[in-house]
Amino acid sequence: MKKKKSQKKLWGGRFRKELDRAAKDFSYSLAVDKELFSYDIKTSIAHVKTLARAKILKVGEVKRLIRGLQWVEKHLRGKDLSKFYKDTEDIHTLIQNTLEKKIGVLAGKLHTARSRNDQVITSTKLYLKDKISVVIGKITNYQKALLSLAKKGEGIAIPGYTHLQHAQIVLFAHHLLSYVAMAQRDKERLQDTLKRIDELPLGAGALAGLSFPIDRMYTAKILGFSKVSDNSLDAVSSRDYIVETLSHIAVLFMHFSRLSEDFILWSSQEFGFVEIPDEFATGSSIMPHKKNADLLELIRGRAGKAFGNLVSLLVTMKGLPSAYNRDMQEDKEPLFSSIKLASDALDILSKMVPQIGINKNRCMIASSNSYLYATDLMDHLVKQGVSLGDAHSLVGQIVLYALEKGKDLSKVSLKELKKFSNFFDIELSRFLKPEQSLAKRKTYGSTNPRMVKKMIQKWQMRLRKK
Ligand code: ARG
Repeated sequence: MKKKKSQKKLWGGRFRKELDRAAKDFSYSLAVDKELFSYDIKTSIAHVKTLARAKILKVGEVKRLIRGLQWVEKHLRGKDLSKFYKDTEDIHTLIQNTLEKKIGVLAGKLHTARSRNDQVITSTKLYLKDKISVVIGKITNYQKALLSLAKKGEGIAIPGYTHLQHAQIVLFAHHLLSYVAMAQRDKERLQDTLKRIDELPLGAGALAGLSFPIDRMYTAKILGFSKVSDNSLDAVSSRDYIVETLSHIAVLFMHFSRLSEDFILWSSQEFGFVEIPDEFATGSSIMPHKKNADLLELIRGRAGKAFGNLVSLLVTMKGLPSAYNRDMQEDKEPLFSSIKLASDALDILSKMVPQIGINKNRCMIASSNSYLYATDLMDHLVKQGVSLGDAHSLVGQIVLYALEKGKDLSKVSLKELKKFSNFFDIELSRFLKPEQSLAKRKTYGSTNPRMVKKMIQKWQMRLRKK
């Protein structure tokens, strides 16, 4: 029976009829997986070399195939591929068809001893290795940006908040260093995932391994994998390391979102600690006085997409029977999306953060609220032998007394204090001060200015090495 000629597929002999137009539109993935183009070419070239080593291809064939693939890479790289979307199933098909146009029927031999099932995940792993390393580098830049703002704010104190209520004084730099530490773990998580990606799937075939005697270690070496997968079913059907990557990016965004929230609050009139640079703020079409931290809001908002991408793939994978199922094609959109979300947000933050202005005066005014030092007063009593319970209650009573009198805690005189306890021996006006409070912090990792200075240096050295 003669078949209608259409764009060549990698399968079809078994079918009498063409795939329905609507079914094509529904299932073709080139518009998405074109992102794998250069990785898929690499996978194919390594595959040809492996076939050559196993003497499955002749020397002349190998040369023509490799040259052909290099030509396809040059010919299509950076080109608008949209004209192929309608009639080309996926990126593998496009490369194969373009190769065939160039070198003829020999192109058909490229797919010897391979399935798209082991091919697609090999190319995806190459993509992952590449992009995760790029994201890791960008996280380092972001950490450096936070450090540079921390240095700019060295010595400036702000109220630290718990429950968004004034708690205890902290250094502005100390607050920023907390985000540097979070970013470090984000980076380490991604680095750790690279270990699990570092395993070659190619050679697993469709699911059961190959009947051709190919040397998988050789392919692994060419593609930069340090080992090959131990189980062909696992190799073609696992996507856990993509889930991991999406999860790490989700956590990264959870941190971005909190940082954004801090800066958005701090740039409000009520706080006024920071000024968002003009280049990263927007105005209102109706309220001419406004300056909005839209970029930070968008980063905070995109956390929703990053979380969604993770959930999307988890749910896609959850009910699948073993081995390859077409559902797995849906892994790429969330993956490409999250990589782009992370790269874009990291680029913006790395540019914006060092340019954020610090309003020293507003920080000082906010830090002069003497209630921020009530804990220091309690600690002082404890150091003189008062039990913590009693000290807590005494300071609580004094706070209430001052609030009722409508005066600042530091304005309560020693005479008044003595009415509460004879353990009081100091004038609060001298005691309840930011410098005093900060210098009293003794523990490693505290907001003591000398500690924070050391930590800035430690991070500078650590990040320089990368
Ligand atoms: N486009 C497919 C994907 O991304 C390639 C693998 C197709 N394999 C198959 N057996 N249909 O998953």
